[in-house]
Amino acid sequence: MEIKNICCIGAGYVGGPTMAVMANKCPDLNFEVVDFNEERIKKWNSKDLSELPIYEPGLAEIIKDCRGKNLYFSSLVDEKIKNADMVFISVNTPTKTSGIGAGKASNLKWVEACARQVAENSKGHTIVVEKSTLPVRTAEAIMTILESSKNSNNSRSKQISFDVLSNPEFLSEGNAINDLNKPDRVLIGGENDQAVEALCKIYKRWVPEKKILKTNIWSSELAKLTANAFLAQRISSINSISALCEATGADIREVSRAIGSDSRIGAKFLDSGPGFGGSCFKKDILNLVYLAEYFGLPEVATFWNAVVKLNTWHQHRISKLIIKKLFGNLSSKKIAVLGFAFKSNTNDTRESASIQICKDLLDEGASLSIQDPKVSPEQIEIDLNLAMSSNQNKNLVNKNNSEGCWEYSSKIEDALLGADAVLILTEWKEYSNIDWLKMSDKMRRPGWVFDSRSIIEPKKVLKSGLNFWRVGDGVI
Ligand code: UDX
Ligand code: UDX
Repeated sequence: MEIKNICCIGAGYVGGPTMAVMANKCPDLNFEVVDFNEERIKKWNSKDLSELPIYEPGLAEIIKDCRGKNLYFSSLVDEKIKNADMVFISVNTPTKTSGIGAGKASNLKWVEACARQVAENSKGHTIVVEKSTLPVRTAEAIMTILESSKNSNNSRSKQISFDVLSNPEFLSEGNAINDLNKPDRVLIGGENDQAVEALCKIYKRWVPEKKILKTNIWSSELAKLTANAFLAQRISSINSISALCEATGADIREVSRAIGSDSRIGAKFLDSGPGFGGSCFKKDILNLVYLAEYFGLPEVATFWNAVVKLNTWHQHRISKLIIKKLFGNLSSKKIAVLGFAFKSNTNDTRESASIQICKDLLDEGASLSIQDPKVSPEQIEIDLNLAMSSNQNKNLVNKNNSEGCWEYSSKIEDALLGADAVLILTEWKEYSNIDWLKMSDKMRRPGWVFDSRSIIEPKKVLKSGLNFWRVGDGVI
């Protein structure tokens, strides 16, 4: 199974960076990234690399090196499938919003559409690789669709054949290029050893062989869901304890350090924050919950569902706490919101805790001045489902109106001007370097700083005469 031409359907947060790194590591192979979203493809092809649709440290440099040499972006889905020896499916798999499994199960309509496109266009032998996170046994459905195309009466159908592999992506946004260059492990699930070996051969060019794990296809699919569920579970666990810290006088950072020094627990993923976001955690856990229910395991379903419930509770807990500290009234008050992305070093806002917390504050009539180094005001407008205030930069606080409103500030300083409170929701580096002595003069008193990411030195804020709260700190 000689692989020369690789096609990836889906030029999103996973497909784009993954293919870019593969192209960079395999100059002799050809990579075609296709997406039916022509606007997105246009951005991937834009000369100005700051206009790429995704912000990831290190990505633009790779695109500069490989694009037009062995890495191409287009919307020619059918044509590129025809030439491909291997097709990665990297399309989105959102949670179903209606029908059976609504709110939990994954909507596989895009994955199925891709399988059909491959079935209709492929030539010779094609290895189809699931990159998208999928429910267990999706490979079976993909194979059934692919195999059915062999039953037609045309000459092409006699010459085509398929293998399906599961090769889930474990990259973490904001660190995607590092994760792809030096993965903890690469997981390849499949039934046909030759197909597994063909994919393995590609990774072996830069990943040590001992880090390439081969499993059966169902274990690989389930391992991806389980990895995300375990990671999310750690965050809900630490966030639950942060509430207890605030109530008892303990400090979550000290608790995290103490438990993280136990090598069985490990120090990573123990930072209490505003609640986990991102496109994967919630969706994948709900998917696991759905699978558990489907297979008659309600206790398993309840266990994992609690991780998502705690996360939502924690986000509301932070909003409620802010409202309480600001005398239970947010109307005619300006709150500077620093950070809208679900974590730093990305422009991705999917499931960001900022969305829920901002909505809660807007419901209370707050005037928000939102700042994020990478998220556009257009994206915030979509996420909040609320148009930006037309009073932009004049008089944001609408004293005669109890409804909340928001504006976009390109500078931290502008966001803080006349603010009653500052709320840090994303751990962007620039927020940890704010000169509070200088900035506090621009705010209205009594002013508050709420740090949901623990990136600020409490003393520096307290010295400026502002009040300070940070997550999980029962000591302040
Ligand atoms: C990925 C995975 O695929 C998903 O399963 C995982 O849980 C999260 O990461 P991601 O790359 O983040 O998704 O999604 P997104 O950025 O939305 O990109 C998917 C792309 O696929 C979009 O650009 C969309 O236009 C494209 N698409 C979708 C197609 O080209 N064809 C389709 O049929 C469907
Ligand atoms: C995650 C998985 O890490 C990755 O392996 C998988 O492929 C996709 O889902 P991602 O969503 O990009 O990656 O980001 P991640 O770094 O896992 O963070 C998820 C959320 O948890 C973010 O909102 C982050 O701020 C939060 N988080 C993370 C914490 O609140 N505390 C921590 O200690 C770590």
